[in-house]
Amino acid sequence: MRGNTLGNAPATLQYLATRRIHREGVFAIPHMLGSEKILDCGCGPGSITSGLAKLANQFCVGIDNDPISIRFARETSLLARRHPLFIISDMHSLPFPSDAFTSVFCHTTLMQSHDPRIVLREILRVLEVGGIFAAREPIISKNYYDPNLRLPAAFFHCFGSACRLNGGDPDLGARLDELARNVGFEVISYQYVHQDILHPNNTEENRLFFCMAGNSEFLSSRAKFSDKAHDIRIAASRSGNRLGLATHAYAELIACKER
Ligand SMILES: C[S@@+](CC[C@H](N)C(=O)[O-])C[C@H]1O[C@@H](n2cnc3c(N)ncnc32)[C@H](O)[C@@H]1O
Repeated sequence: MRGNTLGNAPATLQYLATRRIHREGVFAIPHMLGSEKILDCGCGPGSITSGLAKLANQFCVGIDNDPISIRFARETSLLARRHPLFIISDMHSLPFPSDAFTSVFCHTTLMQSHDPRIVLREILRVLEVGGIFAAREPIISKNYYDPNLRLPAAFFHCFGSACRLNGGDPDLGARLDELARNVGFEVISYQYVHQDILHPNNTEENRLFFCMAGNSEFLSSRAKFSDKAHDIRIAASRSGNRLGLATHAYAELIACKER
């Protein structure tokens, strides 16, 4: 489980696959549109990668070290007219020559690393001079939950603790700009945003969230969380797609490999 706290159960992959470049990655579009070669680092089930492929002039590659996520990404992107290439690989040691990409994207992936500086150095290496790095990472301690909505709050509290136990940092967004500067990136922009994770007009997406929360592997995989897992499963089965306000805090970074 180390390095992939959410796991790769079907319910989790289906929920992650609701992510889109025009929502989770909209801040990056103006900087990546027309890039020759794009890399999506820690692509998971690949729905954002498929959006990135439409922005690329030549090609787009997604890498992830989880074979089940990569298989899901390959199968679900096959029908797209411009589908990305998906490769199983560790982001701490990217299997590409230096200067291979015009831009690199990362979404909720650096937070999983035991040492994100190693990953950032790798990203800097594979970027061309002048290339763009766009990243979005959570600041989970700044999330907001409707006090009546116990399930998402309990779920993300457990997720944050499990992520730390796995060597990651669920608040990584709060130091993303500093980390990028320290490895040699020029920071172009850095901002905090909030995004609703439950959607008043999208009951199907809410249903997928509740399925993921109720089925999460990490909750039952450690003794510390197994009692919570039981409560969360019961709450999930009762709440269906009940609506309420739950917003997540993220930091969005645009940086450049200096000339
Ligand atoms: C929360 S998911 C995000 C997936 C995708 N970026 C998205 O937003 O839909 C984090 C992903 O990082 C991947 N990951 C974790 N550690 C990794 C590593 N060392 N190398 C490559 N991928 C890794 C996990 O397998 C998982 O698919």
